[in-house]
Amino acid sequence: MSCKIDYQAPADLLANRIILVTGAGDGIGRAAALAYARHGATVILLGRTIAKLEKVYDEIEAAGGPQPAIFPLNFEGATLKDYQDMAQTLNTEFGRLDGILHNAGLLGRITPFEQYNPELWAQVMQVNINGPIWMTQALLPLTEASEDASIIFTSSSVGRKGRAYWGAYSVSKFATEGFMEVLADELDNQPNVRVNTLNPGATLTQMRRTAYPGEDPETLRTPEDIMPTYLWLMGPDSTGISGEKWDAQPPRS
Ligand SMILES: NC(=O)c1ccc[n+]([C@@H]2O[C@H](COP(=O)([O-])OP(=O)(O)OC[C@H]3O[C@@H](n4cnc5c(N)ncnc54)[C@H](OP(=O)(O)O)[C@@H]3O)[C@@H](O)[C@H]2O)c1
Repeated sequence: MSCKIDYQAPADLLANRIILVTGAGDGIGRAAALAYARHGATVILLGRTIAKLEKVYDEIEAAGGPQPAIFPLNFEGATLKDYQDMAQTLNTEFGRLDGILHNAGLLGRITPFEQYNPELWAQVMQVNINGPIWMTQALLPLTEASEDASIIFTSSSVGRKGRAYWGAYSVSKFATEGFMEVLADELDNQPNVRVNTLNPGATLTQMRRTAYPGEDPETLRTPEDIMPTYLWLMGPDSTGISGEKWDAQPPRS
């Protein structure tokens, strides 16, 4: 699937839209929250480190964006009740959701499978796929209340082709692709809710630095560089597109 790196989003692309971003305190999620707010969205900043979310909140306010909201949540310990309570709170506060960017993610360890710790495996699956799935179930009615909701799941190159030593991270991203297809097919008769996956590609963040400690950062795109596809897939210019696998940048040569 091609990417939309050259997309030029109109300034009011996301005006009056209410968009939830997970892992909004750092890396790609932070950049997406700022970009969505800059294009008019009211952004709900979800994450596990409140101080980071508060910084993003302040940046949005300082830039004159619509007042955001902070929703602290750790996918590791969150229960079904937490997701139901979350849906109730968001329903009371906003009444609908026009977008969800599932972005929070955990790398786990890059190590031979024979040495993979099962507890770490379960932790990665919890944060990268199980938590987001049950959160989505709780929030679906709120997206159905929108005229045009976009649900984006964050994938990875190793979620489209398996790679040695990437263990639970790779498997969780394959599961993400599979879940997106299941949900998109179920929502086929509901044109106001679309669901797609987006692979950011190699991007300069803490996760990338951990995975490739020896890499020259100058060779990487920044989270800000890849925002055009994030904007396009969240906004009305991609209405009607569902069940597809997108890339945020062209393959590296
Ligand atoms: N960077 C890349 O090259 C690359 C490539 C392919 C795919 N991706 C995917 O892109 C997404 C963003 O990655 P990134 O590179 O921006 O990583 P990052 O800088 O490590 O940011 C990850 C975000 O997820 C949050 N998070 C982690 N565990 C969480 C939990 N248990 N509950 C709630 N939030 C949690 C982190 O919160 P804290 O800040 O509090 O830790 C952080 O905000 C991930 O899904 C990743 O798999 C990235």
